[in-house]
Amino acid sequence: MNQTYINPDYVPEPEKMNVKKGLEGAVIDTSSVSKVNPDTNSLIYRGYPVQELAENCRFEEVAYLLYKGELPNEQQLKEFETLERNYRVLSNNNLQVIRLLPQTCHPMDSIRTGVSFLGCEDERIWVQDDATQFDKAVRLLAKIPLMVAADFRFKKGLDYLPPRKDLSLSENFFHMCFGKIPDAQIVKAFDVSLILYAEHSFNASTFTSRVVTSTESDIYSATVAGIGALKGPLHGGANEQVMHMMKEIDDPSTAREWMLNALAQKKKVMGFGHRVYKSGDSRVPTMKKYAQVMADVTEQQKWMQIYEALEQTMVEKKKIYPNLDFPAGPAYYMMGFEIDFFTPIFVMARTTGWSAHIMEQASHNRIIRPLSEYIGAPQRTVVPLPSRK
Ligand code: COA
Repeated sequence: MNQTYINPDYVPEPEKMNVKKGLEGAVIDTSSVSKVNPDTNSLIYRGYPVQELAENCRFEEVAYLLYKGELPNEQQLKEFETLERNYRVLSNNNLQVIRLLPQTCHPMDSIRTGVSFLGCEDERIWVQDDATQFDKAVRLLAKIPLMVAADFRFKKGLDYLPPRKDLSLSENFFHMCFGKIPDAQIVKAFDVSLILYAEHSFNASTFTSRVVTSTESDIYSATVAGIGALKGPLHGGANEQVMHMMKEIDDPSTAREWMLNALAQKKKVMGFGHRVYKSGDSRVPTMKKYAQVMADVTEQQKWMQIYEALEQTMVEKKKIYPNLDFPAGPAYYMMGFEIDFFTPIFVMARTTGWSAHIMEQASHNRIIRPLSEYIGAPQRTVVPLPSRK
């Protein structure tokens, strides 16, 4: 029997059902981590507008803010960075796990496997007091970029480049992927993308990691589950699809026509639309600005010209606006990353939001267990096979 089976005797009474398909509009808990306000088109992390954080902080400061609730002072930042940098090491077994994965394995599957392995290596996996949970969150923050970079190099047939502790998280990631640190403007654009991707309230992957946490499972399992949810093209996977789409279009002069065709065929265009924002994603103007910087620095205006044509046509025809994945996709491409590494980079950022929510969920937990409206076969009697009689 498949899921589309509907009881022939069943008469739908929608007004009695109260089904919230896709949990649209359902408020399922309180949170002090972040707030998305579609009316004012704003997003705050722990009270701070994300645009201000992006312009004035480094990703590490925002990670600390999400975990601890306050921005760090100089001393706290130094200690936090020391902790993060000291975790910049992968065991040989962990590296081997990444190396032995099939070449065809998508990098999101590599990082999902890598995080799972990290959990296996942590003898404190069941220790869940606040200090240990924070320590594990920093362990994930430090080691996820190492695994993504290792996978990036192995997939190109290159050797693993050991991490450097004298660099910021973003600089070290460039070093480990490319063997060099690019222009400061490129590093800043990347760091901004991590800040913008870090947290977004009860999105699908964060909610998933909270559901896992609500069973009193561990932070690694919750993070693995979050990665699984993020991978889908309706969520984090969209940033990769955006770039595939732009490459398919390739010529800015054909972009409007491409969009009109897509809309005529009622296609979902990746990088547009949002469940919560209906008049634009608060993070887009900042990321678009830095994508433009990337186009200027790398002299690749073509992608921003395609961007403009697609955006204008979509807004004109459907009043549907770009989400963060739309500028992030071409920005990462212009930085030199392979397309299938865009969503793993999103994981490097979102691990901070997931961990903040995992810690929050654990601090006032109640198992998450919703209901469904049954529309299957009515109760009936089992008739045993003749051979059982
Ligand atoms: N392209 C074309 N039409 C879109 C669209 C898109 N990207 N996003 C929404 N729409 C249209 C739908 O077709 C629907 O139109 P209809 O009422 O005529 O059927 C309407 O807008 C509402 O869309 P719906 O899919 O019900 O919204 P949702 O809240 O369930 O889904 C998303 C939100 C984000 C999943 C959806 O906009 C989407 O699939 N976007 C593309 C993937 C993406 O960029 N994801 C990253 C999100 S940050």
